[in-house]
Amino acid sequence: MIIEPIPIRLKDGREAVLRCLTPEEAPALFESFLRCAEETHFLYVDPMDRDKYSVDGERGFLEEYNSSESAALIGCFVDGRLVGTCDITFKTDFKSRHRGGVGIAIQREFWSLGIGTAMLQTLISIARSRQGVTQLELDFIEGNSRARALYEKMGFRICGVIPDAIRLSDGTLLNEYMMILKL
Ligand SMILES: CC(C)(COP(=O)(O)OP(=O)(O)OC[C@H]1O[C@@H](n2cnc3c(N)ncnc32)[C@H](O)[C@@H]1OP(=O)(O)O)[C@@H](O)C(=O)NCCC(=O)NCCS
Repeated sequence: MIIEPIPIRLKDGREAVLRCLTPEEAPALFESFLRCAEETHFLYVDPMDRDKYSVDGERGFLEEYNSSESAALIGCFVDGRLVGTCDITFKTDFKSRHRGGVGIAIQREFWSLGIGTAMLQTLISIARSRQGVTQLELDFIEGNSRARALYEKMGFRICGVIPDAIRLSDGTLLNEYMMILKL
């Protein structure tokens, strides 16, 4: 899905825009994605998995998102630079097509500026405008208090936990919490 560009104002006064990426912007997506993975252990992707990803892979990924009728990938651009992405995917099978799932990854330099809030407002609005969708789902890793605060502010509630869902390189095991928002 392609969404129309949405201008937003950051907490520091700068202007930004939320918009879909073109396949030609795959190098920026690749760089942003890896940077986010290096800056936090709260994402599933880890720099150790770097070899699984490539600019060509990201280009294909963008083409799939943009041509899909059930998924969208949206970037946040500040002064023309891609600083984070979010995505939404709706299930399409008969029994589960009332469900959507979302994810967000923003570069550390741009945390706490309101981008996550604007992204989630946009994703919720997309879900609300899709016929038959009644719930939105996401997850966060134990300790990610910023993500949890954002999601609870937007009305999401914890509905489940996977104990020891991820294991960090030092052996630390962390739970994954699932959250749901009834639309
Ligand atoms: C988690 C993340 C998506 C939040 O986005 P963000 O743009 O930083 O969040 P916002 O600036 O919109 O802040 C949202 C809320 O978080 C809370 N918050 C902000 N800073 C916080 C902090 N340091 N600690 C705890 N909560 C904080 C506030 O409640 C804030 O709402 P408010 O501005 O109305 O007070 C973003 O920081 C990120 O991408 N982090 C790395 C990757 C990641 O963890 N992704 C989520 C995986 S589940």
